[in-house]
Amino acid sequence: MSNITEEIKKRRTFAIISHPDAGKTTLTEKFLLYGGAINLAGSVKGRKAAKHAVSDWMEIEKERGISVTSSVMQFNYDGYCINILDTPGHQDFSEDTYRTLMAADSAVMVIDGSKGVEAQTIKLFKVCVMRHIPIFTFINKMDREARDPFELMDEIETVLGIRTCPVNWPIGCGHEFKGVYDRNKKTITTFQAAMGGQKTVDATEVLLGDPQVDWLIGEDYHHQLMEDIELLDGASDELDMDRVGKGNLSPVFFGSALTNFGVETFLQHFLQMTTTPLPRLADKGVIDPFEEKFSAFVFKIQANMNKAHRDRIAFMRIVSGKFEAGMEVNHVQGGRKLRLSQPQQMMAQDRKIVEEAYAGDIIGVFDPGIFSIGDTLCLSNEKFEYEGIPTFAPEHFARVRQMDTMKRKQFIKGVNQIAQEGAIQIFQEFNTGMEEIIVGVVGELQFEVLTYRLENEYNVEVKLEKLPYEYIRWVENKDEIDVAKIQGTSDMKRIKDLKDNPLLLFVNSWSVGMVLDRNPGLKLSEFGKN
Ligand code: G4P
Repeated sequence: MSNITEEIKKRRTFAIISHPDAGKTTLTEKFLLYGGAINLAGSVKGRKAAKHAVSDWMEIEKERGISVTSSVMQFNYDGYCINILDTPGHQDFSEDTYRTLMAADSAVMVIDGSKGVEAQTIKLFKVCVMRHIPIFTFINKMDREARDPFELMDEIETVLGIRTCPVNWPIGCGHEFKGVYDRNKKTITTFQAAMGGQKTVDATEVLLGDPQVDWLIGEDYHHQLMEDIELLDGASDELDMDRVGKGNLSPVFFGSALTNFGVETFLQHFLQMTTTPLPRLADKGVIDPFEEKFSAFVFKIQANMNKAHRDRIAFMRIVSGKFEAGMEVNHVQGGRKLRLSQPQQMMAQDRKIVEEAYAGDIIGVFDPGIFSIGDTLCLSNEKFEYEGIPTFAPEHFARVRQMDTMKRKQFIKGVNQIAQEGAIQIFQEFNTGMEEIIVGVVGELQFEVLTYRLENEYNVEVKLEKLPYEYIRWVENKDEIDVAKIQGTSDMKRIKDLKDNPLLLFVNSWSVGMVLDRNPGLKLSEFGKN
């Protein structure tokens, strides 16, 4: 096996998704702890007010104490080289969060055992489903009062529409949390809490038939467990790795990230079950990651991560082969050859210069303003393009005007650059030009980020007038339809994007259906293409 193949086989690249507060940061932190990437839990996100998350790059994040941008972390564990793509947890998350999922090969979904499936999880989950990537579920906070585990399974299946297969099963919860039962090994591991930076927990593991079980978990829980096992064995799906691989079946684990219970077992199972870097579709066909020729695509552009370096970083996912610092590559959409010097890997604020990287890895390169989301990079004698990254439908809209009309140029430049990074989407009135700009964002916080950045980086003060629309649809068959003649509803507004593609905005979702009914032949789509 060549060195390249060996390196690529070690890679596991995944995103962690959850609703805020489910415990994503805590779980990530524990993973990093096992990998020796950090020494003390609590360094990823400083607890309480004093410290800030390592991904708190932008000032605005610091002011609000939340993380706006998604970060990438790499660490080694048990012979694997792991790339974790973090997604912002705040409810005002952005389109970036969705795009990050385009760079992942699988997803870990963290669910709060007392809350079940929450709004944000549903949104992120939809993107994973669209990509057919494996999804693993970690039901967290079992050391607290939690909902009935069967009810939780049922909720995942009905709300998210994915079948589940519990790998382990909880025995009690909260103060009465006794431990978990491993369905494969048929063993019980009793609950022990490890706090702070402690890695190992001295848990007791016994076989189900062991006479100690009654004493360890109590007769009632033993009885309950036997009933649960019977029910599970009879009713739950088999752990079919083929279905897991296609994203049709999610292996489920129970644990407690805070007390470090069930985390390492989860990590080990997950790493074994999840996939090596996946192939990607390009215009010339599917590209195999193990192909020796380097190729990558840009999935995120991040500006001003650090005030000391006022620059932009383009994050790319390496799809195939090996990358070496300084190598000459073809930036296909830009139509030019470049040398990617000083490529970086991120561990939040720490940037590390990388000499080499492999398929599955994420690298950040300095971007003098030439890259766009979805761009392909390949060897300099090659030319092909990866399938584009979809534009996700914004859910909030505002009309934006600059306060000082003399600053028109800076305003247009700023708004355009920020849109190019993919932080916002910009639109115009259907019948006029750029006099008025309508900005669409996936998460409302982006409005604040926009105002802040225009003021701080472009020296332009703006006024934002929020619009009531929440639904946007691209007119797919714009060449067959006269958009001006579409029979609308009273809450419908026509707009266009910068490439003059017509779009419709709606306040209510039922109006979308109504307009489709009123205009036979009209085709509307939720996703645009970059
Ligand atoms: P997030 O990234 O998904 O938003 O969640 P995060 O890890 O920040 O966790 C949210 C809160 O839940 C934190 O408490 C955290 O300590 C707690 N938590 C995470 N996992 C567990 C668990 O397994 N059991 C219990 N009991 N709590 C858990 P906080 O009070 O909001 O923050 P802090 O004061 O601990 O920083």
